[in-house]
Amino acid sequence: MITKRPKGTQDWYGPDMYKRTIIEEIARELCKAYHIKEIITPAFEHTILFQRGVGETTDVVQKEMYTFQDKGDRSITLKPEGTAGAVRAYLENNLYAEAQPTKLFYITQAFRYENPQSGRFRQHHQFGVEFFGSASPLAEIEIISLLTEFMDKLGLKGVNLYINSIGCKSCRKTYNEALLSFLKEHENELCSTCRERMQKNPLRVLDCKVPTCGEIIKSAPRTIDYLDEECREHFNELQSLLNEMKIPYKVDSGIVRGLDYYTKTVFEFINSEGLTLCGGGRYDNLINEIDEKQDIPAVGFGFGIERIIKELNAEGVKLADEPAVDLYVGILGKESKAAAYGLVKKLRQKGLIVETDYMDRSVKAQMKYANKIGALNTVIIGADELAAGKAHIKNMDSGNQTEVDLDKIAEHLRMI
Ligand code: HAM
Repeated sequence: MITKRPKGTQDWYGPDMYKRTIIEEIARELCKAYHIKEIITPAFEHTILFQRGVGETTDVVQKEMYTFQDKGDRSITLKPEGTAGAVRAYLENNLYAEAQPTKLFYITQAFRYENPQSGRFRQHHQFGVEFFGSASPLAEIEIISLLTEFMDKLGLKGVNLYINSIGCKSCRKTYNEALLSFLKEHENELCSTCRERMQKNPLRVLDCKVPTCGEIIKSAPRTIDYLDEECREHFNELQSLLNEMKIPYKVDSGIVRGLDYYTKTVFEFINSEGLTLCGGGRYDNLINEIDEKQDIPAVGFGFGIERIIKELNAEGVKLADEPAVDLYVGILGKESKAAAYGLVKKLRQKGLIVETDYMDRSVKAQMKYANKIGALNTVIIGADELAAGKAHIKNMDSGNQTEVDLDKIAEHLRMI
């Protein structure tokens, strides 16, 4: 037990860890160009934030939250997603009082007590963006175009954009009535959770993963047929902009998202096997629901990092290789240790990746080790080299040796 990690968690190391680093670097680099600032919020929040924000009748809140009483008897929840915490931070830190819009990104872990399976973990990681303050479809365009660029930079080709509109509060009212009367006709065939949910929040019935419910849902009324004038116009404008920008997408009326805060636009990026890599949309009422004094529109997305890695592997995309060791500095003789280590330090300061001996190995064993770790070049530093101020750099690929001044090693290695 003590050497076994909890179900649904992962240890990050080796090639996947490196891929994750590159993914995060690309995300950070892109956000810099889009002038989106990073935010880190706590790993846990007051439970009520998620109950209010994500919604009482969602799977996330009803079944999946890691909730506990802390020693001060407060109900605390490990964050199951990034939006609610970012909204809370936006409000608590008065970021809305600064020049708007506010564009924030995060790279965070998230915790959901789900049944682990391929691409589904109990602790997962998301790259997310939240864009506060704009009601214009250009805000959607900003995040969707960032996402398409993100996937281009990663080299992903098999992930497609699906969009839908679920309308605002007023269209939801008429839609809910139509949906409820449809569901009532099928009440006896629905699972018990759906029968309960249809009274409180009929839209959530559409998330049900029970196959018999799935069949019924297929012929349920569609949200896009119940949009009021403003929501329809918003959705049309978004599509015109996507068309003009030549961003490929499909309208899929089945996308309603599993979290309660969405209004108007919802979207997902889905791979050829039907796995959602990224989900997002507009949430114009959430800020007001968390702080009734504020009424600020917002839009955002969350991209699952584990699922990006799964997709990279499935599509056979190789992100950059881990950088190799430029030089292995072998140490010959106890009395050369400090000077050789001084050389290692200097070369590292010049930007080279340098390794040396920490194990008191023989020179022969050191060279064997340098070979094992794939060092591109080696050099041996002993009393003779230190006295002469020169040493032989060996290129491990060609086997060629070149005599180089000790203070010119970095320049020599950059030339070859
Ligand atoms: P979500 O669709 O629940 O949305 O999650 C976003 C992404 O996180 C998913 O598309 C998926 O890639 C990944 N993900 C979710 N659950 C798991 C899991 N158990 N294991 C592995 N990956 C998972 C949200 O969380 C919203 N906060 C997105 C958003 C931001 N909407 C507006 N702003």
